Amino acid sequence: MIKYKKSADSETTVTEVVCPNDTNPMGILQGGRLVQWMDIASAVCAQNHAEKICVTASIDSVKFKMPAKVGDIITIKAKVTRVFNTSMEIHVVAWAKKIVSQKAYLINEAYFTFVALDDNAKATNVPQIKPSTLQEKKLFLSANTRRKSRLKF
Ligand SMILES: CC(C)(COP(=O)(O)OP(=O)(O)OC[C@H]1O[C@@H](n2cnc3c(N)ncnc32)[C@H](O)[C@@H]1OP(=O)(O)O)[C@@H](O)C(=O)NCCC(=O)NCCS
Repeated sequence: MIKYKKSADSETTVTEVVCPNDTNPMGILQGGRLVQWMDIASAVCAQNHAEKICVTASIDSVKFKMPAKVGDIITIKAKVTRVFNTSMEIHVVAWAKKIVSQKAYLINEAYFTFVALDDNAKATNVPQIKPSTLQEKKLFLSANTRRKSRLKF
């Protein structure tokens, strides 16, 4: 197994368009639908990094910052911040863009943890991450604190 990989190699971008059946009675994108899209983006990212089937172990620090409306284009980016042993933390951000103004704004940010499974559905080790950019290094270092906090519960 390769010992180290770059997080840029598994960075995943997913694009969606908010349709009427994605919205609540207020006409804004349902939180659960957005989290579902973010879960899929981060699962693709985790599985491409691990080269294994991965399952969601936890979702935390989910912050709904702004609403999105019908017709908005949603872009979701998922990137591995750090690998522990069999688990990986994925940082996910979601942006909404208005078609006419082409203005984009951050609507959500969260951290997902995925666990890689072997052929017997047992947790299995994953290549480590070598952070390159300043932002990757910051997220790599702070991942330990977030892990401690999420494993408390
Ligand atoms: C996640 C799961 C595989 C962990 O299995 P387990 O037998 O408890 O495994 P372990 O206790 O050996 O832990 C394995 C890793 O998971 C991590 N983990 C377990 N529970 C966790 C949680 N709630 N949050 C974050 N990480 C968690 C452990 O810290 C460990 O990480 P490490 O190897 O990097 O140190 C298991 O609980 C499971 O299958 N859960 C259901 C997953 C699911 O159905 N997801 C939704 C559909 S994809």
